[in-house]
Amino acid sequence: MWVAGIFLLASVVFAKHEIYEGHAVYQVSVKDVAQVKQLNEISGEVNADIWSHAVPGHPGQILVSRELKDLFEEALRSAGLDYTIEVDNVKTLLDLEDQLLAEAASKSPNRTRSSGLDLDRIYTYEEVDAYLEELAAAYPDVVTLVQGGRSFEGRPIKYLKISTTNFEDRTKPVVFMESLIHAREWVTLPVTLYAIEKLVIDVQEQDLVQDIDWIILPIANPDGYVFTHGANRFWRKNRATGYMINDICVGVDLNRNFDINWSSHSSNIVCSEIFHGRAPYSEPETIVIRDIIREHIDRIELFLDIHSFGSMILYGFGTGILPPNGLILHLVGVQMATAIDAVKMSWNPNYIVGNVAMVLYEASGSAQDYAQGVGVPLSYTYELPGHRFGSGTAAGFLVDPNFIEQAGFETWEGIKAGARFARNNFRRKNDLDAQL
Ligand SMILES: *[C@@H]1O[C@H](CO)[C@@H](O)[C@H](O)[C@H]1NC(C)=O
Ligand SMILES: *[C@@H]1O[C@H](CO)[C@@H](O)[C@H](O)[C@H]1NC(C)=O
Ligand SMILES: [Zn+2]
Repeated sequence: MWVAGIFLLASVVFAKHEIYEGHAVYQVSVKDVAQVKQLNEISGEVNADIWSHAVPGHPGQILVSRELKDLFEEALRSAGLDYTIEVDNVKTLLDLEDQLLAEAASKSPNRTRSSGLDLDRIYTYEEVDAYLEELAAAYPDVVTLVQGGRSFEGRPIKYLKISTTNFEDRTKPVVFMESLIHAREWVTLPVTLYAIEKLVIDVQEQDLVQDIDWIILPIANPDGYVFTHGANRFWRKNRATGYMINDICVGVDLNRNFDINWSSHSSNIVCSEIFHGRAPYSEPETIVIRDIIREHIDRIELFLDIHSFGSMILYGFGTGILPPNGLILHLVGVQMATAIDAVKMSWNPNYIVGNVAMVLYEASGSAQDYAQGVGVPLSYTYELPGHRFGSGTAAGFLVDPNFIEQAGFETWEGIKAGARFARNNFRRKNDLDAQL
């Protein structure tokens, strides 16, 4: 019994990240749109996992499996695309991430009730859940915890409403912010937790809480997130089953599942990372976000969907068509980006601001487009920087505890800039003014 138990434990430990043994991360540069297209085709051929899309002046990062590395490199060379191998065995990096995060967790004192979270850790779903409950209990005057629904596997999806007036003062705009709709984008979680801290526990700028009501959903995709902590660190989608015989592939890209030109620029292949599901809102996680937006549509002035990585602030529509207020969207996007750039780590690139389809690629059915489409004036996707990791420069989705607080701090600067613009230009207020 004993021996079997120990053996089982050991094999579980050693099996961790085994699926990524020998997988490599490439950095690929493109000179023009034609090369972007070529790179996408090549990536498709080797079934690569595109971590960040290359745009001219902004190299992309691409994960390729061990078996297909040679083929990939050959195709890049014959297409004349410049590349470097950033990580030649991504499993070693995954092991290092485990080690760094474990060390940080063991060094830091255990958090005490409602005094905020340590800023060098990545908290699990259960830890965040307990934290949100504690916060709501400790700050009942400003914090309301809402269970918006349950994930495919039945986990509660909870969000905070933060308000000094219990969401009853309808002259205030609402800012709605969400993270981890894509499970592997871990660094986005401490960014929303940081915002919660600055709005509830450590309030230094009173106007932000007096003038604005906030809705914050830290873990939009709980099942996917839990899965990244055990089985597969680079899982992106939710964990919906029943799409294929024997569930050979599972999961829907929740950020392609909204009812805004659904399926026009996404995939109907279940195994794809951008599989859009069987219908708009086929996924319970998407419904939760939709319903928050519906409930507060008359007051949500700013919606922020926090992703990583790429140092970008993106706005709609994913089809390349600009919303009527495209110029304002761009202007506010630049204001937010400028605020972040002013305090970012010097070695990270400046943020790029632009329309999703023009900066990156066409995409349909996203949360950002949905919010924009139903009338939220300012709707954005943040792509946080891929922060430096360990001694190297390739980071991607991997999180170095040394930069968790920085991620929260610098992104908060951008969020504040956007929130203040929303406050100053709240459409309801302007409507009221116009009637006078
Ligand atoms: C603090 O955390 C460590 C590591 O998780 C744990 O072993 C220990 O029991 C905790 N101490 C207290 C007082 O909760
Ligand atoms: C959705 O697609 C239709 C048809 O292609 C197009 O006319 C419309 O502008 C698109 N809407 C958005 C928000 O992109
Ligand atoms: Zn994402």
